Amino acid sequence: MESTRNRLIQLLDKSDGYISGQQLSDKLNISRTAVWKHMKELEKDGYEIEAIQRKGYRILSSPDKVSENTVQWGLDTNWLGHQLFHYKEVPSTQDIAHQLAKQNKPHGTVVIADEQVKGKGRMSRPWHSPKGKGIWMSILLRPDLVPVQAPQLTLLAATVLAEVFGEEEKIAPQIKWPNDILISHKKVSGILTEMQAEHDQIQYVVLGIGINVNQTSEEIPEELRKKASSLRIESEQIWPITDTIKKLLHQFEVTYDQFMAHGFQHVKKLWEKYGYRIGEKVTIKTMKKEWEAVLVGIEPDGALRARDFNGNEEKLYSAEIQWGEGGYNAD
Ligand code: BTN
Repeated sequence: MESTRNRLIQLLDKSDGYISGQQLSDKLNISRTAVWKHMKELEKDGYEIEAIQRKGYRILSSPDKVSENTVQWGLDTNWLGHQLFHYKEVPSTQDIAHQLAKQNKPHGTVVIADEQVKGKGRMSRPWHSPKGKGIWMSILLRPDLVPVQAPQLTLLAATVLAEVFGEEEKIAPQIKWPNDILISHKKVSGILTEMQAEHDQIQYVVLGIGINVNQTSEEIPEELRKKASSLRIESEQIWPITDTIKKLLHQFEVTYDQFMAHGFQHVKKLWEKYGYRIGEKVTIKTMKKEWEAVLVGIEPDGALRARDFNGNEEKLYSAEIQWGEGGYNAD
């Protein structure tokens, strides 16, 4: 059930200018005194509300305190984040999203936490998710896709992150295959996709997004400092967490709808635009061999394509990729 407060925020959000106390009281079926009391509560939570006699109420700004209300206020989406669950502390938003999926929550349900105490990374690695410093979010999707297409959703999500981070001109995000977002060669964000499938049909996908947003260098664990960073460190400014979540949700929905309507081509192009070391000469080491190649791009099944100097191309699913002094394990 949607709370009165949520509906109040939605009404304020929908009205272009002011909405009168009487209209709010009629629409919400509560007294005008109750409307006024709700306004006071919103102000306590950091909303800036303007009240003008004979005109009514208007929200001027919402606080950068993540909550169901602040994220949904002004959220410009048709289906993503309309069911949104915010927690102060959870083991992992992934686990909650799986539970919600099993309770038949709809496509587009979003789970966000201020802190995760058992955040999960890929390959069973832990994901450091300190309180209020980042975006720890899982999106429940029910796509009409076959399981082999699931990696496309991960690649899609990576392009969404790169697009939104890149709106800040001081930084140039890149996507390291398959789905780490790097800025100046350091990881600021990662994606974990978990899927439940049956009879060759995806039942649901939980797409987990972790973004280091406002950590200072000292707040990045020492053992990670050479490889990991945050949006704040790289752009030298604090990022508004709530607004960034809204931008991500909006951009995700637009890109997802485009993908569902027209296929993978657009995502592939975007991904390759941001692809780390794409077009560059590298050394590739797999279990079987070591060879010199150029990274060419990605494949619809999520593989990385590389071409050797005789023009032979190969799809990589797991490899060690090296260039000059650098390198990475991709899997
Ligand atoms: C990676 O290893 O790069 C993936 C990291 C994914 C972290 C996110 S944070 C929100 C969601 N909940 C988790 O426990 N993990 C994902």
